[in-house]
Amino acid sequence: MTLKDKHIVLGITGGIAAYKSVMLLRLLMKADAEVQVIMTPAAKEFVTPVTFSSLSGKPVISEFFTANSGEWHSHVDLGLWADLMVVAPATASTIGKMANGIADNMLVTTYLSAKEDVMIAPAMDLDMWRHPSTQRNLTQLQKDGVLVISPGEGSLASGLEGKGRMAEPQEILDEIERYFSSKENLKGIKVIVTAGPTYENIDPVRFIGNYSSGKMGFELAGEFARRGAEVTLLTGPVTLETPAGKIKRINVSSAEDMYIAARSIFPDMDIAVFAAAVADYTPEIKANHKIKREHEEEITIRLKRNPDIAASLGASKKNQITAGFALETDNELENAQKKLKTKNFDFVILNSLRDPEAGFMKDTNKVTIVSKSGEIEAFEAKSKREVARDIVDILEKAIKEKSETL
Ligand code: C5P
Repeated sequence: MTLKDKHIVLGITGGIAAYKSVMLLRLLMKADAEVQVIMTPAAKEFVTPVTFSSLSGKPVISEFFTANSGEWHSHVDLGLWADLMVVAPATASTIGKMANGIADNMLVTTYLSAKEDVMIAPAMDLDMWRHPSTQRNLTQLQKDGVLVISPGEGSLASGLEGKGRMAEPQEILDEIERYFSSKENLKGIKVIVTAGPTYENIDPVRFIGNYSSGKMGFELAGEFARRGAEVTLLTGPVTLETPAGKIKRINVSSAEDMYIAARSIFPDMDIAVFAAAVADYTPEIKANHKIKREHEEEITIRLKRNPDIAASLGASKKNQITAGFALETDNELENAQKKLKTKNFDFVILNSLRDPEAGFMKDTNKVTIVSKSGEIEAFEAKSKREVARDIVDILEKAIKEKSETL
C-alpha cells in the first residue's frame, strides 16, 4: 500500500532500539509517506539526528526552540499536521510521561496536541516491561485510545531473554498500513448515530432529563468517521465536542425533535446505531410560563408516551443494519432478545447497570453484543473508545456480508 500524502510524526525515544527506527523511517519513505521525526534528548545519545534528517528530508525536531535561530517549533501545528503519530521505540519513561501528561519535551507535548491517532511500539528490558508501573501506564494509554504494537520476545540488549524487544520495523510498517487501509473500510457508507439524553420540557425553565453524557455515541461517531463513513450524529443536549472527521452533527433537545430529525434521515442510511437515552415519557402539557409556586402541597405532572425512535424506524427499515443499546438490571439476555424483535435490531449492545465499569457518565463500558442470528459476544471492560471499535468491527463485518449477498 502506498502512504502517499500521509503525514506521519515519528517519535523516537532513548532506547537502544532507536537504531531499528532508522530502518522504519526508510520503509516509511519507500512507501511515500511524509515523515517528521521528533527525538527526545535521550534518543540523540543512541542515534544522531543527522541520520534521520537525511533520510526524511526534514530537519529533526527535538527542542522547543532551535538554538541558533530561536525559531519556535509549534507542537500544536505538528499535532494538527499529523495523520498519525508513531512513537518507536517507546521507552518505559516516555510511556509513563504520555500516560500522565508530563509534557517536558517536544515529543510528549506533540502527543498531547495530536488530533489523530497515536501508535506506540514499546521497547525495554523484560523487568521494566513486566513492572506494574509500566503495565499500569500502558493500560492507561490504551484507555486513552493509543494503539499499542506489542513488543516481541527474544534476546534483549541487556543480555537477558524475554519480552520487551521492539516489534520489527516491517511489522510496524504493516500496522501503519493496516491502520490507514482501515480508514477506507467504510468509505461510501452512511451512518446515523443517536446520542446523549433528551430534555422533556415542563415549562420554559424546567425539564425531565437523564444522566446520559453522550460519550458512547460520540465515540461511535468518531470511530465510524475514522473508517471513512459519512456520519450523522444526532444528539440531545451534551457538552461534548464533535469528534474529528466527516461528521454532520444535529443538535436536538426533546425525544419528539430527535424522532422528527431521525425519521427524515434514516431512509438514506446504511447503518443506524441508537445510542441515545431517549425519555420514555414527556409532560402532556408544556407550560408556556414558568410554573409558579402556589399554596398546593403537591402538584401533578401528567406524562404521555414518547415515540420509540428505534422501534418506529426499525419497523420501516429496508436494507439498513441497525443496532441499539439495552441497559438492564435483570434478565439481561432475555430482554436483549426481546429488543431484537420489538425494535427489529440486528444487534443489541447490552450493558448492565450492575457492572461498576458500565453505564452513564463513565469513561469505561463493558458490553455483550447479541445478534439477531443468535451469536453472543461478551467483551471485557474497556474505554468507551475501545468499546466503539469492537462495536464498529461487528457492524463493518455485517455490512460487508450484506453487500456480498445483495
Ligand atoms: O426499550 P429501551 O428504551 O430499553 O431501548 C433502548 C434502545 O432503544 C436504545 O438503543 C435507545 O437509543 C432506543 N430508544 C429509542 N427511542 C426511545 C426509547 C429508546 O430510540 N423512545
